Amino acid sequence: MTACSNAILKIENLQVSVANAAQTPVVRGLSYTLEKGKVLAVVGESGCGKSLHALSILRILPPGVQITGGHIIYGEKDILQLPAEELRQLRGHKIAMVFQDPMTSLNPIRTIGKQLTETILAHQKCSKLRAQARAIRLLKKVGIPDARKRMKEYPFQFSGGQRQRIMIAMALCLNPDILIADEPTTALDVTIQAQILELIKKLQMQRDMSAVFITHNLAIVSNVADEVLVLYGGYCMEKARCSELFAHPLHPYTKGLLGSLLSLSGEKPQRLPAIEGYPPAPGTPEKGCPFAPRCPQAMEKCFAQLPPLSEQAGHQVRCWLQEKNA
Ligand SMILES: Nc1ncnc2c1ncn2[C@@H]1O[C@H](COP(=O)(O)OP(=O)(O)O)[C@@H](O)[C@H]1O
Ligand code: SF4
Ligand SMILES: [Mg+2]
Repeated sequence: MTACSNAILKIENLQVSVANAAQTPVVRGLSYTLEKGKVLAVVGESGCGKSLHALSILRILPPGVQITGGHIIYGEKDILQLPAEELRQLRGHKIAMVFQDPMTSLNPIRTIGKQLTETILAHQKCSKLRAQARAIRLLKKVGIPDARKRMKEYPFQFSGGQRQRIMIAMALCLNPDILIADEPTTALDVTIQAQILELIKKLQMQRDMSAVFITHNLAIVSNVADEVLVLYGGYCMEKARCSELFAHPLHPYTKGLLGSLLSLSGEKPQRLPAIEGYPPAPGTPEKGCPFAPRCPQAMEKCFAQLPPLSEQAGHQVRCWLQEKNA
């Protein structure tokens, strides 16, 4: 691995495409390094390639979508080259994922206790009693009161927020090095969202775990992320330390996302100019900056040529305005 010694996951020039005749690209040359014990937030509107990049890390892309280039390095090995058995070991054991909708991930006709215990037993050699005790400890840890009693209950008997907590317990069953949370809070109200995020942050710090946190809502990552990567049309548009990105956003798209922030505190949201229009559909023919049709600062050059991703003092940005200023 060429990155600094603290790197736990390194994505290099990842290319993901829809497997049609045109090989429509949906993730385009994405690169980043996740450091040990840190949280990276991947932010962007719907359809920007956030989930497909995350599914690529575990190689669980849906049929019809394929990785067409790049490397995903974990522990000196390229996940994209791992044989099936090593890949199975990696999933859940080393890298665990929490999905958006717990009802699609939890089995509705099995008790929570059975599901947690089975997950532990499937990956660890221990007695059923030990696995049950561990499941109860995990439920307590994620803030489910009366954990022992609630082991006997079914998913529908829990609230949406509690089901998310159970999904996090499920992901933590095997002490993963990396937790990937893909829009884990979208369906929940704002207060519960904040609590779930605080929980992920607390667990991540207690366990020195690393996390990739995926969301379309830039506002909610400000207290949680160490670094933020902004995706648009499959491209990294901006990446910086979280405090730096909020204090000095450079990309017009990031500024637009910040402009449409809703306050988490429940105060009346400030309605600043939001971004008009929609992200490009995959395969939209364009040769320039994919944000150009919506960008208030677009210049002639922007429609003709894709700007490079340039970096200054660890702050990366893909925009001709920065090239001009440099
Ligand atoms: N199974 C699929 N087949 C074809 N195209 C897909 C599939 N899944 C996602 N896409 C397309 O890939 C793009 C990126 O999708 P996704 O990573 O799910 O976006 P995000 O998570 O940022 O909302 C979207 O435009 C979507 O339409
Ligand atoms: S390159 Fe041009 S269109 Fe793209 S974000 Fe910068 S100014 Fe806007
Ligand atoms: Mg998604």
